[in-house]
Amino acid sequence: MRPTAVALGSAAAAVRTQIVFVLVVVVIGSSSAVRAAGQEQQQVRCFFIFGDSLVDNGNNNNLRTMTKVNYQPYGIDFPHARPTGRFTNGRNLADFIAEHLGFKTPIPPNASVQDHNPDIILTGVNYASGSAGIRAETGEHLGDRIFLDKQLEHHRGRVSEVTKLVGNESAARAHLRECLYYFNVGSNDYINNYFLPHHYNTSALYSPPEYAAELIHQFSRQLGELYHLGSRKVAVSALHALGCIPEMMSGGLNCNESMNQAVALFNRKLRVLVRELNGKYADAEYAVIPEDALNPPGFLATPCCKVSKSTGLCLHGEEGEVCGSRLLHVFFDNFHPTEIVNKLLGIVAYNRILLLLHHH
Ligand SMILES: *[C@@H]1O[C@H](CO)[C@@H](O)[C@H](O)[C@H]1NC(C)=O
Ligand SMILES: *[C@@H]1O[C@H](CO)[C@@H](O)[C@H](O)[C@H]1NC(C)=O
Ligand SMILES: *[C@@H]1O[C@H](CO)[C@@H](O)[C@H](O)[C@H]1NC(C)=O
Ligand SMILES: *[C@@H]1O[C@H](CO)[C@@H](O)[C@H](O)[C@H]1NC(C)=O
Repeated sequence: MRPTAVALGSAAAAVRTQIVFVLVVVVIGSSSAVRAAGQEQQQVRCFFIFGDSLVDNGNNNNLRTMTKVNYQPYGIDFPHARPTGRFTNGRNLADFIAEHLGFKTPIPPNASVQDHNPDIILTGVNYASGSAGIRAETGEHLGDRIFLDKQLEHHRGRVSEVTKLVGNESAARAHLRECLYYFNVGSNDYINNYFLPHHYNTSALYSPPEYAAELIHQFSRQLGELYHLGSRKVAVSALHALGCIPEMMSGGLNCNESMNQAVALFNRKLRVLVRELNGKYADAEYAVIPEDALNPPGFLATPCCKVSKSTGLCLHGEEGEVCGSRLLHVFFDNFHPTEIVNKLLGIVAYNRILLLLHHH
């Protein structure tokens, strides 16, 4: 039997609120226990990351886009209070997963990786890009982004470097099958595509179930391509309740339930897809990381910084008026969780990944 993922997403709003609240308190109260969950020994040889701003750690910094955050107050809780291109005050979800897996340093963004640097290329690369989606056009009104097919193309380039480094294809296959491949993508196909009818025609072309099916169809092809590039352990995050992010609540206390329903359709089809892939590729293993309900009680739902009305990202520098109590905010800006929430999402993700790694 394959372990089934526990979904929090369908719980009633009140229950979800309490879950988030209790988990935040637990995380704050037991950071030593959290550290103990991380392993001394590296649990996978290598780790490759694909997705959007929830895991991007600098790939957009040199792109022409409104979706980049290499300025203060982003990174205020990062070592040396340094903005890096992470869309939060400190570490992001990919950083926490890597820490739990026993990596001593974060997986670097593809944009900063020198070609043929063997240590890095054999250890893993982060290809994620803010505003990117499963669909190529997603996010295009914001500027350049590395959409998922492009990320896979970049990975294809890195795979041929791996082959050169280890000498031949069978050695490369043996190496690549020992890596973990992680995806956090799809949110922008809703918030920077389907839910923006002024910029995109997808909501006129597809009903919510049709759109979810269309996204899953493309994602299925993309995961198939990654299989042929040697992936055998793949974890995919389900999407959060996007109707409950500050940008979609426009200052009110109520989530946009029609948005949440559209996203829930995607998540349901994602679970079916992962079951199918597990059947189709007998020598590979796929898992869904359950969505967490990021819909906090009203006072926690306001962003920590002062955001730009046009982008929903923090204003630059002093104008960004970053909050003092960052542990009491779920969101840093109108879209992205604070570091403390990334930390708890990292625990959820890591627990599911452990099952994936130890299942044969
Ligand atoms: C990412 O990696 C690929 C190698 O496949 C490289 O060709 C590409 O230019 C890199 N992207 C950036 C933004 O540096
Ligand atoms: C491939 O390389 C490995 C070492 O990296 C070696 O042991 C193996 O014999 C090689 N296989 C072929 C088919 O050349
Ligand atoms: C929720 O989102 C949908 C889709 O963007 C929009 O049409 C609707 O007006 C929103 N509902 C509320 C209550 O804001
Ligand atoms: C929808 O928009 C895309 C560009 O994003 C365009 O290529 C396509 O032709 C449009 N389709 C319709 C039916 O308007």
